[in-house]
Amino acid sequence: MKEKIERLLDTKRKIELGGGEKRIAKQHERGKLTARERINLLLDEGSFIEIDAFVKHRCTNFGMESTQAPGDGVVTGYGTVDGRLVFVYAQDFTVLGGSLGEMHANKICKVQEMAIKMGAPIVGINDSGGARIQEGVDALSGYGKIFYRNTMASGVIPQISAIMGPSAGGAVYSPALTDFIFMVDRTSQMFITGPQVIKAVTGEDVSQEELGGANTHNRVSGVAHFIDSSEEESIKRIRTLLSFLPSNNLETPPVYECKDDINRVEERLNELVPVNPNKPYDMKEIIKLIADDGYFFEVQPYYAENIIIGYIRLNGKTIGVVANQPRVLAGCLDINASDKAARFIRTCDAFNIPLLNLVDVPGFLPGTDQEYGGIIRHGAKMLYAYSEATVPKVTLIVRKAYGGAYLAMCSKDLGADQVFAWPNAEIAVMGPEGAANIIFKREIAESDDPIAKREEKIQEYRDAVANPYVAAERGFVDDVIVPSITRPRLISAFDMLEGKREVNPSKKHGNMPL
Ligand code: HXC
Repeated sequence: MKEKIERLLDTKRKIELGGGEKRIAKQHERGKLTARERINLLLDEGSFIEIDAFVKHRCTNFGMESTQAPGDGVVTGYGTVDGRLVFVYAQDFTVLGGSLGEMHANKICKVQEMAIKMGAPIVGINDSGGARIQEGVDALSGYGKIFYRNTMASGVIPQISAIMGPSAGGAVYSPALTDFIFMVDRTSQMFITGPQVIKAVTGEDVSQEELGGANTHNRVSGVAHFIDSSEEESIKRIRTLLSFLPSNNLETPPVYECKDDINRVEERLNELVPVNPNKPYDMKEIIKLIADDGYFFEVQPYYAENIIIGYIRLNGKTIGVVANQPRVLAGCLDINASDKAARFIRTCDAFNIPLLNLVDVPGFLPGTDQEYGGIIRHGAKMLYAYSEATVPKVTLIVRKAYGGAYLAMCSKDLGADQVFAWPNAEIAVMGPEGAANIIFKREIAESDDPIAKREEKIQEYRDAVANPYVAAERGFVDDVIVPSITRPRLISAFDMLEGKREVNPSKKHGNMPL
C-alpha cells in the first residue's frame, strides 16, 4: 500500500507541474500566473478540490500518442469564495498552449454540469491557443459542447470569464455567452480572426493588442466588462463581484451587515444638481452618496459612459443601478448605452437583484449614425428588458426625463413599482426649448422681440408642464421628495418591495429585438 500511495502522490506532483518548470518560468516572465496559481488566488485558502487531474487525451494524430499533456491542459474543480461554493476551470498554457481538445473540453463540460446541478457560480479562466490543431473536428465539437452548456447555464447560475492570455477564433464565444468578462491589460487578447488573417483579407495593419486587447474590448467593442492592470487585481475583483451575486436564480444575493446609517440624511444631495438644466454634473457622486459606505461596484465603466451600470448595497442588500450620466453626451441614450443597460437589466432580473434607476435623460441621441445603426431596434431592448423584469424596480427622476427616453428609463408604465422625483425634475414630451419652438412658433415669429418672447415661452412651458407635479398628479410619480432624504426613502421602498411577486404570461420565450 505504501508504495501505491507514494506512486499516487508522485503522479499527482507531476500533474501539478503542468508543462514543467521551464514553461512555468516563461509564463511568469510574461507577467502571467499559472492555472493553479490563479485558482488558488481566486478561491478561499486551501479550499480547492481538483477533479479529473488524471484525464489524458486520446489523440494519435501527428505523433500525439507520445505527447504528455498533464491534465490535458486544463485544471478543473471546485472550492469556496467567502465560504460559498464556486466551480472553476483554468486553462493551463504550459500544456500544449492550453489548447482545447476532446478530453480538455469534457473536463470543462463536467464542471459546467456540476455547477448547474449544484446551483453554484462557475468561473472560467481562459488562456489558450484555441482548438487543438492535432485533434481537428473533435476539438471543434468540444467547443460546441461548452457553448451549449454555457447557454443552458445562462440565467441559472452566474458565469464569469477571466481572459488571462490569448482567446482566439471561435473560442471567444464561450466567454461571450457568459455574464461577465474580465480582462488584464496587455496580457489578454480576444479576437475572431488575428492580425495576419485581417492583413491578408482586408489589407488592414493592426497589432494584436489594438485588435483585441483589454482596452479595445473595455472601451470600444463593449465585449468585456472589466479591465485590470494585473491578474491579482482582476481575480480580487472577481471575488468582489461574486459577493454581489446569488449562487443561482432560485436564491437572493447574500445580505451583508450594514454599518452605514440607514436613515442618513445627505444635505449635499440638495445642492448637487445645477440649477441650470444644461449644466452637467457627475451622477456617480449621487450614487455614492446614496450607497452603503459610499461603495459603488461599477460594471463596464469605460464603455458607453453616457449610461452607468453597477452594484451598490442598500441596508446590506445588493441593488443593481442603471443611471444616466449627464457628463457624457448630456446623458442621452444611444445604441451602445441601450445595449449596455438592457443586458445589465436582464442580468439583474435573472438573478433576483432589484433595480434602481436614476434618471436624467434629455432623450435619444439624434443623428443619422444612430438611425442607420438601428437605434430603434437597440433602444427597444431597454423597453423590453425593463418591462420583462419582475424584480423590484424603483425609479428616481433626478432632473430631466423626456420623451421615449423617459419611458426607456423605467417609467411607471414599464412596471416601476415606485417612482420618485426630486423637486427640480422635468418630465415632458421634449425639452422646453424644443417644445416652445414648435408650439409657440407663430407667437415667437410675430413678436417684436423674438428672442425675449422665446425665453418667455420656454419658461411658461417649463412652469406649466416640465415639472414633476403634473406626473405626480396623475400618479406616474408616487412622491416628490427632498433630495437629502433619498437614501432612507430608497431603503424603505426596497424593504417594502422585498416580498414582491410578479409572474409574466407563460411562454416558450419572448422575442426580444436583438
Ligand atoms: C495545438 C498549440 C496550439 C493549438 C499553441 N499550441 N496553440 N498546440 N493547438 N491551437 C502549442 C504550441 O505548439 C507550443 O507547443 C505551445 O502551445 C505554446 O505555443 P507558442 O506558439 O510557443 O506560444 P506563443 O509564442 O506564446 O504563441 C501563442 C499563440 C500561438 C499566439 C496562441 O501559439 C498561436 O498562434 N497558436 C495558434 C492559435 C490558433 O490559430 N488557434 C486556432 C484558433 S481557431 P510547445 O510544445 O512548443 O510548447 C479556433 C477555432 C475554435 O480555436 C472554433 C470553435 C467553434
